[in-house]
Amino acid sequence: MTEVKDLEALFQARIDAEQKIEPRDWMPEKYRKNLVRQVSQHAHSEVVGMLPEGNWITRAPNLRRKAILLAKVQDEAGHGLYLYSACETLGVTRESTIDDLLSGRAKYSSIFNYPTLTWADIGAIGWLVDGAAIMNQVMLTRTSYGPYARAMVRICKEESFHQRQGYEIMAVLSKGKPEQKAMAQDALNRWWWPSLMMFGPHDSESAHTAESMKWKIKRESNDELRQKFIDRTVQQAEVIGLTVPDPDLKWNEERGHYDHGEIDWKEFWNVVEGNGPCNHERMKARITAHENGRWVREAAAAHASKKTKKKQAA
Ligand code: 3HC
Repeated sequence: MTEVKDLEALFQARIDAEQKIEPRDWMPEKYRKNLVRQVSQHAHSEVVGMLPEGNWITRAPNLRRKAILLAKVQDEAGHGLYLYSACETLGVTRESTIDDLLSGRAKYSSIFNYPTLTWADIGAIGWLVDGAAIMNQVMLTRTSYGPYARAMVRICKEESFHQRQGYEIMAVLSKGKPEQKAMAQDALNRWWWPSLMMFGPHDSESAHTAESMKWKIKRESNDELRQKFIDRTVQQAEVIGLTVPDPDLKWNEERGHYDHGEIDWKEFWNVVEGNGPCNHERMKARITAHENGRWVREAAAAHASKKTKKKQAA
């Protein structure tokens, strides 16, 4: 009987040899649990992320913007479904995963607990939030778990469109009337720091990074991805004449990166722990939607069981 420690050594050798781990492969329970945690919370983030943007579908400034925003929000629903399906390959049911969100046991990205106050917020979300998500998700296309990596490939293609349309909104506003430019700057001021928080705590504070890197769930750390995002986004802000709200932001020739101010980790944990501006509103919306959809789930289950009984009787 192969000892667990031999199995673990074999597993690590597969990871080190860049082999993808598939659902039927042996994996350490901690590897599986870590993935269930991350993939399910990623899925929750996609679905909850539809709410702040959905808030502006009926108020988009013209038909073109409305059609683009509709498409983006629908994409996010699809991303959630890919990720919930990837999660099911790890042996957890869809119901239990959704229940973890609705009961407050599971997290979703802190960023979605901020309000969308003006149309420029829709630009800032596409540009900054989807921009940050892309940094992370492109890295995840190389994650060691097969179904997760493959879901990421599809999601990243759509995410790039999300980021471009957001940046275009901000570029158009910045070239518009002074009030429009002021609206874009206000949105950047409010969304910049929460977007940096999306990458998670500093590596030194991260509960999972070391293990996730060892198992190549993560290929780059929270701080590495955050730095890449800052270096790229600051230049994009300059191109459209907006100012990043960080007085300590300064190009460091030696490092080849931007130095930046410290993130307000008290705010971060406050939002993660449920006390952000919109946490209650977001959870209420998800719980209500789940309740309103109960009859659809029950009808689909009844139809499926009738079909199975008919097949068994034939
Ligand atoms: N919001 C909420 N919780 C966060 C967080 C955030 N921004 N950043 C970290 N956390 C939580 C972690 O989940 C963990 O808590 P847990 O143990 O209860 O799960 C704790 O803080 C410690 O953080 P770690 O850095 O140790 O955790 P990870 O190693 O999991 O790293 C992560 C955090 C980088 C977010 C990682 O989970 C990850 O890469 N997740 C997949 C990507 C993702 O979920 N992105 C969210 C946005 S999706 C999106 O934006 C969709 C787009 O279409 C708009």
